[in-house]
Amino acid sequence: MIKKTIKDISNPDTYKGIYSFHKYWGKKPTESIAFFIQNYTKESDIVLDPFLGSGFISRECLSRKRRFIGIDINPFAVEHTKFLLELPKASVFQSALHKIEEKIKQKINATYSIDNGKIASHYLWNSDEILKVWIKPEVGRSRIEIEPISFDIEKVKRFSEYSVRNIRKLTFFTNSRINVNNQMSIYDLFTRRALHNIDLILDEIKLFPDIVQKALLLTLTSSSGQMSSMVFAITNRGKTKNQISNKVEVGSWVIGYWRPKLHFEINVWNCFESRAKKLYKALLDISDHQYKIHESISMLLESKQGASILNNDCIDTMQNIPEKTIKLICTDPPHSDRIPYLELSEMWNSILNKNAFFEKEIIISNAKERNKKKSEYVEKMKLFMGESSRILTDDGILLIYFNARDRQSWQFLEILDTIPNLQFIGTFPMEYSANSVVQDNRKGGMKTDYVLVLKKRGYNIDFQYELDKISGWSASVPQIASAI
Ligand SMILES: C[S@@+](CC[C@H](N)C(=O)[O-])C[C@H]1O[C@@H](n2cnc3c(N)ncnc32)[C@H](O)[C@@H]1O
Repeated sequence: MIKKTIKDISNPDTYKGIYSFHKYWGKKPTESIAFFIQNYTKESDIVLDPFLGSGFISRECLSRKRRFIGIDINPFAVEHTKFLLELPKASVFQSALHKIEEKIKQKINATYSIDNGKIASHYLWNSDEILKVWIKPEVGRSRIEIEPISFDIEKVKRFSEYSVRNIRKLTFFTNSRINVNNQMSIYDLFTRRALHNIDLILDEIKLFPDIVQKALLLTLTSSSGQMSSMVFAITNRGKTKNQISNKVEVGSWVIGYWRPKLHFEINVWNCFESRAKKLYKALLDISDHQYKIHESISMLLESKQGASILNNDCIDTMQNIPEKTIKLICTDPPHSDRIPYLELSEMWNSILNKNAFFEKEIIISNAKERNKKKSEYVEKMKLFMGESSRILTDDGILLIYFNARDRQSWQFLEILDTIPNLQFIGTFPMEYSANSVVQDNRKGGMKTDYVLVLKKRGYNIDFQYELDKISGWSASVPQIASAI
């Protein structure tokens, strides 16, 4: 169901339910995507998103009986999309959670017990020193804060030699933009006690069959930021510099690998359980849990339904799609140097034990070792445009969600001069769903995307829904492209 009218699809709602369960970098609102799928494709038409990301579009397509191909270089994006298409039933997920709880909750909590046997929920750290221990009271909501004693310090020391078992080695490049360097490891991001407990959870998750296993694994990746030492302590600074006022609140892991001096270590079981409960609630509201996933594009082409979700470079994969097969390409490529997806997803991919193919990412990265420059980015984007025009049906539509503050990153559109069968129709600005999209908040960061609408030349789209009614619709390329 499309809740919005054509007039206001550019002003989306925030994500709810299953769409708000997991963070992804640059999640896009679904209203405009759903609008185009609903009105410009019909049952069993094929929709393609070659820069898939979190993959919400897959559910929007399959719930409307369209076929779907999704491609992403990021293994996490592919795992998340497959999860969206093969959700466990709420009761099955809940019973798996109970089994894990029975086996390891006590073991994990024992690593956080204080001298009176109570279980700590949070530790406030200042660099390598524990400043406070928080306990949840038996009644009431306000926490009890206590000073750490040697018992607490000795407890954490017991893990000082712990070597992680279930998480593969991380690949980091030196990138000050996201506060990371190529010497860093998982031990820089988590306390060893947290890693010990994550390992215990992973041991259990591995025992479940595929669909439940995936849901549990994503519950873990979804809660991993909150389990890490990257959780800021938000303080009202005291009058004296560096003096910490009494009011310390828990922040969250945001964007990048910032390891603040003043940070929290949060009980790993509590983080996992609260995420799992969120997923359970979302699953309760879902009626269609399972869609068909084909292993290859050729299998999808032979079928009248389902999806094919591929972890690959989209240019390579698009080259294998026969010409004139795709009715709608609806996609949101990386926007210039805004978000280094693979570098940021490395923590999740290491937990999933998936390796990322950094070489083929279409991105401009601040990491010098990666040598990802603007010129190469523009060339790759041009290849994407060329392949799009080849595989679109004669009545096909191409929608590109895009923004960048510099003119050069828009240069891929110049290829339109040499692709005679692709025509730019117009564009409209679309606001982010600010509550859930992690966007670039730096000064001058853009608050809207542009949705660029293109079609095959010579074919007259039936404008029954009159695109020019969309708020901010313009028939020319966004001003920003020529203004900078
Ligand atoms: C802006 S994000 C997409 C976000 C998505 N629209 C959403 O709502 O979550 C761009 C995506 O392009 C992917 N990507 C980058 N280079 C790629 C390549 N060569 N092939 C396929 N995907 C690529 C990134 O991993 C990232 O997930």
